[in-house]
Amino acid sequence: MTNRRVLVVDDEVNVRLSMELHLRRAGYEVSTAEDGEAALAAILQGTFDIVLCDLIMPKLTGVQLLDALAARGISIDLVLMSAHADLDTALDALKRGAVDFIQKGARFEEVLFRLRRIEELRRLQAQVKASAAASGGLGRLISDSAPMQKVFAMVRKVADFKTTVLLHGESGTGKELVARALHDVGVRKTRAFVAVNCGAIPENLLESELFGHVRGAFTDATRTHHGLFEQADGGTLFLDEIGELPLSLQVKLLRVLQEEEIRKVGDTKSQKVDVRVVAATVRDLAAEVKAGRFREDLYYRLNVLQIALPPLRDRPTDIPMLVEHFRSHLNVRLGTRVRGVTPGAMRLLERWPWPGNVRELENCIERAIILVDGDQITEAELPPRLCQEQDRIQATLAAGELSIKKTTRIIEEELMKRALARTKGNRTRAAALLEISHRTLLYKLKDYGLGD
Ligand SMILES: Nc1ncnc2c1ncn2[C@@H]1O[C@H](COP(=O)(O)OP(=O)(O)OP(=O)(O)O)[C@@H](O)[C@H]1O
Ligand SMILES: [Mg+2]
Repeated sequence: MTNRRVLVVDDEVNVRLSMELHLRRAGYEVSTAEDGEAALAAILQGTFDIVLCDLIMPKLTGVQLLDALAARGISIDLVLMSAHADLDTALDALKRGAVDFIQKGARFEEVLFRLRRIEELRRLQAQVKASAAASGGLGRLISDSAPMQKVFAMVRKVADFKTTVLLHGESGTGKELVARALHDVGVRKTRAFVAVNCGAIPENLLESELFGHVRGAFTDATRTHHGLFEQADGGTLFLDEIGELPLSLQVKLLRVLQEEEIRKVGDTKSQKVDVRVVAATVRDLAAEVKAGRFREDLYYRLNVLQIALPPLRDRPTDIPMLVEHFRSHLNVRLGTRVRGVTPGAMRLLERWPWPGNVRELENCIERAIILVDGDQITEAELPPRLCQEQDRIQATLAAGELSIKKTTRIIEEELMKRALARTKGNRTRAAALLEISHRTLLYKLKDYGLGD
């Protein structure tokens, strides 16, 4: 069951008590509030699934409460109840975001029926959303953007082949998940997937890590060691950070890839292995070749099929879906009940250039979930750098953005905000300060989503 926590808001104590009693009996967790302000505070603090709210109350009426929630970007299932129900009030309430309208004094069965109907609706919506996300995804990767869908299509196309794949992309773009997906959707899925970070193992140990060694190969070699290639036999070996592979080992790797056999350190004979190699790098390997740090022959051998992972800032439509994905996963992992992100916070998330890509976004959501008091992530829980234009410009440049168009937009937006702040929103005077025409300012404000 999903929607189980109900907040009952009514100024009449009898109504509160009887609702509470009935709802408890029907299996709900119930809290109560006696006016609109108390209700607002409780909703901001708590994690309610449904609010049952009287229309006419002191301090904030039911409709004013709806407006106050909307102004904070908070969406919650709120059912209005009123004794003086007429069609206009009901329609108005629904227009302002109430999910339903119940005549006060209705039998409790009727109230229960309406609540169950809302729960059913939400359950179905969640199901549809989950299956939409799953169908657009690949393995543990999800995406809602055209560039990533292209990547997924490529992965599906090449998964079954033994051909080496080279993954290229900035840190945190999902290279490791793509490597796993190549394994998981291909014919090798029932065999081992072995990953090794070529930059994390000292050079003198790497050869025996990769290819193994025989007993007595060196002083510490007291027994035969099966290397990663052997462990991945029949499956996939993921060579992460291939750009860090020392030149001496590059020669040996090339030979293994060409002959499909390995020789353990200290061994006199070779043995066949059947391994699909996926390599990943954040570096521009072609440039590394030019600089003499990477062997050209190995580069060509690895680069038969290259999959480039676009940075997150080039696929902003992925952000809402990723946020939703991390929110629900982290809720499970951290035992929290954060239900969403306010539109204002989402806007900041969508505008940040994410130099650390998906990993940075994931960390940012984790931080917010831990910091949040209510059940919606707001701007206050996001790292301050996301709100500061200075930082945004710097992060955009640091991420290697060269587009004059994109960087100019950020600067223009910042200048318009400053001008409007200085003129207290007077657009004619702001336009004069910016040295652009009033019309141009109006056009730009609309373009940047800063207009009314
Ligand atoms: N499309 C995606 N859907 C869901 N999670 C993703 C996606 N892309 C990346 N992630 C998550 O982001 C984090 C970083 O991904 P991953 O480790 O695959 O990146 P990487 O490219 O290998 O980075 P690095 O070069 O720093 O090793 C992981 O926690 C991963 O689960
Ligand atoms: Mg990685």
